[in-house]
Amino acid sequence: MTNIPVYLTAEKHHILIVGATTAAMAKLALFMDTGVRLTLVGHGALDAAQSAGLTPALTGNQTLTIQDRPFDQDDLTDKSLVYIGVKDDITEERVLRLASTRKLPVNVIDKPAKSNFITPAQFTRGPLQVAFSSGGSAPVFVRRLRSSLERILPPSLGVLANAAGNMRGRIKSIIPDSTRRRLFWDRLYDNAGRYADMDQSEVEKLVIEAACNHRVGATTGQVQIVGAGPGDPDLLTIKAHRALQQADVIVYDRLVSRDVLALARRDADLIFVGKREGEHGVGQEGICRILVDEALAGKRVVRLKGGDPLLFARASEELDALRANDIHTEIVPGISAYQGIAASTQIPLTDRKASSSLTLVTGHLKDGAFKDWARLSGEGQTLAIYMGVKGAPRISAGLLNQGVSPSTPVAVVENGTRANERRFYGTLAGLPELVASNKVKSPALLLIGDVVENALDLNQFEHESLLRAQNG
Ligand SMILES: C[S@@+](CC[C@H](N)C(=O)[O-])C[C@H]1O[C@@H](n2cnc3c(N)ncnc32)[C@H](O)[C@@H]1O
Repeated sequence: MTNIPVYLTAEKHHILIVGATTAAMAKLALFMDTGVRLTLVGHGALDAAQSAGLTPALTGNQTLTIQDRPFDQDDLTDKSLVYIGVKDDITEERVLRLASTRKLPVNVIDKPAKSNFITPAQFTRGPLQVAFSSGGSAPVFVRRLRSSLERILPPSLGVLANAAGNMRGRIKSIIPDSTRRRLFWDRLYDNAGRYADMDQSEVEKLVIEAACNHRVGATTGQVQIVGAGPGDPDLLTIKAHRALQQADVIVYDRLVSRDVLALARRDADLIFVGKREGEHGVGQEGICRILVDEALAGKRVVRLKGGDPLLFARASEELDALRANDIHTEIVPGISAYQGIAASTQIPLTDRKASSSLTLVTGHLKDGAFKDWARLSGEGQTLAIYMGVKGAPRISAGLLNQGVSPSTPVAVVENGTRANERRFYGTLAGLPELVASNKVKSPALLLIGDVVENALDLNQFEHESLLRAQNG
């Protein structure tokens, strides 16, 4: 069934609700604070409204009248919409017939076939009103859609939207240029979560401050450096998801999973800047140039990086280039590989008995390679080693030389959190062989420390062989 969406101006209408059922009370609650005039009529209506906490005395609502008596045809006079929520079919048919004779729109609650209008699922954020319908064909999908949208639209958006309505004129005088003003409202919307738990006057003060600080010389373009997480798109933050859906350009590298990229706006430009086998890629300088050029051209750019964008991700070079060009930049954190993998393997990273510290370290063999193995060899710590596949023999030897026990448990997790995740368990002494015999490829993370013994899928056999290795 096709529906025509129409919003009625509440103050100009009078709704009649017939019945004292729970469904009738739900409709009453829905319209209670909208300013629409409401009449509830039916035997037992007062008791039902009282139990639902909906009488004028309980709510202070001046636009509600309750008539605790059976429906009368005169109840239809001057009404614009009728809801029927009664239990007996005879009353239902009678109200329906009389309302139809007067050509009034009627909704028999939960009976779309008998109704000639529906009330969509909806939610509000201040003056923003979002309504959904599937024409009765997929109510579960409608519920899901509503809850996912409710989740990504922070409640503070309502206060912000009210503030925006009150201050449009002032903001226009502070930021006269319309393109710059649009950008200002865009940024305010992106940061709606910051206004959580504030009252209207606080929000208005901060919005004026933000407008005054909206830098005059800055370009209209912007860059968000966004953490794409380890691969599973469900691990994206809500803010990262929103950034992907708004970006004009997405600059991404090899670690970003396809499932995450699939969430990008359909017409966004996707620019791959990673290295493919046998190719050089654009290099860090090239990446910085693309980010700066696209932002200076006025685009909304997302620089999408695997995991968290500030961990082993060369963010400082990109930030330097963006700051040097006075480009508005924001960072959206992501779940790093160590967090995603700890969750998928169910390895607690610290443990009261086994580990009181966690160290994140690169196992990269080139510039900046970690050499201070002595610092990592103390008792009771957990090591999460990034980029350590090629360097596994050197890492194992480095730690063993510092006296770390050869039987220290090790987990190697390739493609963590993705559909093709592979997990291997062994000991520090056996790490090179574990990596080589399983042909582990990047991206993979090494977790080293006694906490690894808690891994969910360290099955009985593996556990026993680990124990045998530990006992010599
Ligand atoms: C350049 S670093 C980037 C780290 C990233 N910024 C983060 O916070 O996870 C790349 C390394 O991260 C690790 N890594 C990233 N994603 C991974 C995944 N899904 N599974 C296993 N390791 C991963 C691997 O060690 C990989 O070589």
